[in-house]
Amino acid sequence: MAQDDSAGRSFDLPEAFLDYLTSTPYSAEEYHALLQSPEERYVRIRDPTLSLATIAQRLQVDVTELVEVSWTKRFAQRHPTLRVFRIPETAAVRQSDLYDSGDVFGVDASSIACVGALDPEPCDHVLEICCAPGTKLCCLADLCTVTGVDINRQRLTVARSQVKRCKLSNSELMSEGLTPRDRKQTRKRPKVEAFAPDVFDGVLVDAECAHDGSLKHIRKFFDERGKTSKLQSLEEHMPWLSEAKRTELAQLQFELLCRGFQLLKEGGKLIYCTCSFSEAQNEEVIRRFLAQEPRAQMDPLPWEMPENPVERSTPEPEPEMNGTLTARVRKLLRSPEVPCRPAFDLPPGTACRFDPQRSATGALFIARLRKEHGGEGVGEGW
Ligand SMILES: C[S@@+](CC[C@H](N)C(=O)[O-])C[C@H]1O[C@@H](n2cnc3c(N)ncnc32)[C@H](O)[C@@H]1O
Repeated sequence: MAQDDSAGRSFDLPEAFLDYLTSTPYSAEEYHALLQSPEERYVRIRDPTLSLATIAQRLQVDVTELVEVSWTKRFAQRHPTLRVFRIPETAAVRQSDLYDSGDVFGVDASSIACVGALDPEPCDHVLEICCAPGTKLCCLADLCTVTGVDINRQRLTVARSQVKRCKLSNSELMSEGLTPRDRKQTRKRPKVEAFAPDVFDGVLVDAECAHDGSLKHIRKFFDERGKTSKLQSLEEHMPWLSEAKRTELAQLQFELLCRGFQLLKEGGKLIYCTCSFSEAQNEEVIRRFLAQEPRAQMDPLPWEMPENPVERSTPEPEPEMNGTLTARVRKLLRSPEVPCRPAFDLPPGTACRFDPQRSATGALFIARLRKEHGGEGVGEGW
């Protein structure tokens, strides 16, 4: 199906992709319009002492072209290495000495929300499951100690080089899968098995997903004319298009979430996130998990939620943040007295379905969970 817009490129979405879209809230026309939205470029500046003028000069842009993303400022106030700026396409990032020193880092602005929602303390030891190619891991390693695990060795090599460039000595990377299926396949005792359950202060599960919310990623599969020459590669790179594969993917996400929660300390926090619009990969994974895990409880997110979450696209209505849903959960003490919760619900403030109409880089689903001590409340603030 080809759709044209004189103002933008045309994207010839293959049948399999159109079929996949029926599992998301977007029609083919709406999704096509999202793909046509302007692509923005963002960087994270790690050195909090660098002034705007210095950053602009080093990236060879005018200072007025360097715009700090306003909704990420709340995270940067708490963690000064998380400053994020929108920059023009012309910015000389890789040529800059800030790149060599690891002080500038290309990011999707939305990645910062996952790290900000986890909000680790400096003494925390955080596990990131699905950590490659290392964008969020490097953000985390600036804040606390991190162990990263990923099944893809090639992507882990990229993560390792990022860690090296940023001179992050407090992170450790492991190449392995974390689900029971992976353990069967590799037939070796995974190193992560060395960890007893309940060991990490925080866990980030940036689950493998269909990537349909990452518009930048999807655009890459179309040529300059937006024609279909790379559709083959779109289907190759999105192996989750068929219904059978989608079911398999949701199962993988569920297993990754369960494994992450198992390794989380009581009172610890877990973030589950994807960059997919599909409910099956987001809310449904969380619902299924909550239905079987009595120690998990939805938890308010560390930013204000809109009254009607469907109507607001970002923690604040800004085009830089794209996403589908953000939710947070707590974990309760293992105890026979803990009553089973009623069916999964999305209480106000714990979940927000983002509307990416004004999106630039991609969608994001985030869920935050917490293990709770002794059934007592952990408190509202993070
Ligand atoms: C969305 S990407 C992660 C992006 C990364 N967190 C970042 O910020 O750069 C998903 C990752 O999940 C990994 N993955 C898929 N199945 C896995 C499994 N069973 N165990 C561990 N990692 C897995 C993939 O190799 C891929 O790198």
